[in-house]
Amino acid sequence: MHDPSSKRRPPHALWRWALIGVAMAGSAAAFGYVGGWLAPGRLTPNSLVDALQANGGDHPGYRRNHAKGICVAGHFESSGLLAPYSSSPLFQPGNTPLVGRLAIPGGNPYAPDSSAPIRSFALRFDLPDGEQWRTGMNAMPVFPVSTPEAFYELQLASHPLPDTGKPDPERMKAFFTTHPETTAFLAWVKTAHPSASYATETYNSLNAFYLRDAGGQRHAVRWRVEPEGAIPAASGPAAGDTDYLAADLRQRLGAGPLRWKLVMTLAGPGDPVDDAASVWPDGRQEVVAGTVVIDGEQAQDSGPCRDVNYDPTVLPRGIEVSGDPLLAARSAAYAESYLRRTSEEGHLPGTESPKEAAR
Ligand code: HEM
Repeated sequence: MHDPSSKRRPPHALWRWALIGVAMAGSAAAFGYVGGWLAPGRLTPNSLVDALQANGGDHPGYRRNHAKGICVAGHFESSGLLAPYSSSPLFQPGNTPLVGRLAIPGGNPYAPDSSAPIRSFALRFDLPDGEQWRTGMNAMPVFPVSTPEAFYELQLASHPLPDTGKPDPERMKAFFTTHPETTAFLAWVKTAHPSASYATETYNSLNAFYLRDAGGQRHAVRWRVEPEGAIPAASGPAAGDTDYLAADLRQRLGAGPLRWKLVMTLAGPGDPVDDAASVWPDGRQEVVAGTVVIDGEQAQDSGPCRDVNYDPTVLPRGIEVSGDPLLAARSAAYAESYLRRTSEEGHLPGTESPKEAAR
């Protein structure tokens, strides 16, 4: 008997099915590649954040790096002096609101403030047209490594040993010996001490970016925020106080706003714009773009910075990424950390620290 469904399809229909199949296999392969499933040795955002988490411990709801911090709010007063270098309206004279976060590195939100000699400052400038500029800066002059792969290896080498709670010194030594780009950072570490205040620190972008002026010209830059005027030294932590940075900040803000100059350093000819482990020579042209003014603080578990991902590649027109490979890796890893922390139960008001919970 003749079955109409068994009618032969014309050859071009078969090809169409074959093409759809190939396209679907291609998409699956692309997802597999991006996810790292097809290349087990490939570095992925997931493995970067796993390594950070393995070092800091499991703390649901918290950032997987720079987990201990405090939200701050204020505004940026533009001097107008950067307008010839960047077309962003942010750099026209005037004020722009911002949401910031001061923090210490590491994945443990209960770590003592003295656990690292580095403090960090992240800022999100909210421009009137809905654009944003997000930046995360560290209070050190140079980054230890140049590539995401080396950053990952550094996390593996820093994994705390179960008996001491500290990294294996031999493993660390082996890492630094095989990574000569860490020389400038190691020289700085020898002189570094954990500061007793966020207010006295200078915070650096470390990565380079480009400014784009109204005429379309690019200018390679790094930036820093440095305290404006003389800042009274911190009185120092009371004996046994491990959370002195937040206390010092509250006390200072009680006396008035805190101010940092935003300084742009323009690269000279030949200065590397893709290597955060290299120092640019002194004497480069600098432009004071304006002043970051902070006048309020809030606990990070309930403040507005909690749900901000300070992805350094979120830039307004007039600022652009450089070819520094750390930037794309940061963007991807921050997104992974953000996804984890915002989908977890935890970090609820009242769970700021075991000390607070015990009160
Ligand atoms: C491949 C290199 C890097 C990786 C994988 C990495 C990873 C991370 C992650 C996962 C977070 C938590 C993000 C969140 O949950 O919102 C973070 C925070 C942070 N990182 Fe990085 N980081 C890298 C390089 C850098 C560099 C070069 C700087 C330079 C200044 C930097 C500065 C910061 C700051 C300031 C924060 C805290 C932001 C905040 O307060 O929310 N990081 N990092």
